[in-house]
Amino acid sequence: MLKKRILTGHRPTGPRHIGHLVGTLENWTRLQETHECFFLVADLHVLTTSHTQPEHIQKNILNMLADWLAAGIDPSRSTIVLQSIIPEHAQLALLFSMLTTVARLERVPTYKEQIKELNLQPSLGLLTYPVLQAADILLYKANLVPVGEDQLPHIELSREIARRFNQTYGHTFPKPDALLSEAARLPGLDNRTMHTSYGNAIYLRDTADETTRKVMSMYTDPTRIHPTDPGHVEGNPVFAYHDIFNPDKAEVEDFKARYRAGKVGDVEVKRRLAEVLNAYLAPLRERRAGLISQPKMLLEVLFSGTVKAKFIAQETLEEAHQKMGLMHSQSFSEKVLANNISGIFC
Ligand code: TRP
Repeated sequence: MLKKRILTGHRPTGPRHIGHLVGTLENWTRLQETHECFFLVADLHVLTTSHTQPEHIQKNILNMLADWLAAGIDPSRSTIVLQSIIPEHAQLALLFSMLTTVARLERVPTYKEQIKELNLQPSLGLLTYPVLQAADILLYKANLVPVGEDQLPHIELSREIARRFNQTYGHTFPKPDALLSEAARLPGLDNRTMHTSYGNAIYLRDTADETTRKVMSMYTDPTRIHPTDPGHVEGNPVFAYHDIFNPDKAEVEDFKARYRAGKVGDVEVKRRLAEVLNAYLAPLRERRAGLISQPKMLLEVLFSGTVKAKFIAQETLEEAHQKMGLMHSQSFSEKVLANNISGIFC
């Protein structure tokens, strides 16, 4: 049976953290077994919010790629694509922009949040961010898009664009479905959302010592002053991490019971967490160190995936051109060569 096609991606905004690992990368790694996967390095999308720091993008791309591969993304099974190298992404987005109203894009929740946060006049690029994302997905005629909940409005727009295109020009694009991962959302060290810009993340590239230091400084139960006070396990990120990273479930239950009863201190629970987390991350770190020492190999992985994707992208763009009444580039040159312009200007 033909495998369903997946396309998903990240913006290369910085190193990946353990929230990315358990929230998305482990899920992507599993999906490679059952699906044909395309993983997009969405560098054009980075420019929508930070086009003034060109020096960071390429470094971030290679670092993110090392994180992806160390986490289990396998370039011999999946296709890794560098968005900006394939102009068809931008070209299809331009065609899709004709099918999308400004009012529709102004209602996209991520856009509304961003303009509040950025505190500046939104660019046209930011407004059309989800149109470019729709092009990313539909260019490869992907069936499924594994994303976090915040991305659902973008997948909805992609579906609308596919539907409108198909209605107007005949069936061309499958309507992509979002695939929400069931993974629990990992809180940051300070119990807010784990986010690079909050300084509350443990990165895949952190050393074991750095990780231990971060764990020992984690937020716990603010109502608990002494280790003998009864503590709260719910809403306590130290236990959220134990639940995910500690394979010894009996130990976790014992910690929880003693914590609730005021019979174990934060330090002991955190020390053990640092140990289990470091054990969990050790094989990944080893792979990552090997990868980062071979930047040429990383570039080759990116290059070969991008070349493979380019063929598909080209074909889809040709199809879209033709259906929208534009010239098919191959028949254009054939007509000229054969001196056959009938059917063109009549
Ligand atoms: N917008 C996505 C994010 O910020 C990244 C992205 C770009 C993407 N193009 C995509 C995700 C296509 C899925 C499919 O996470």
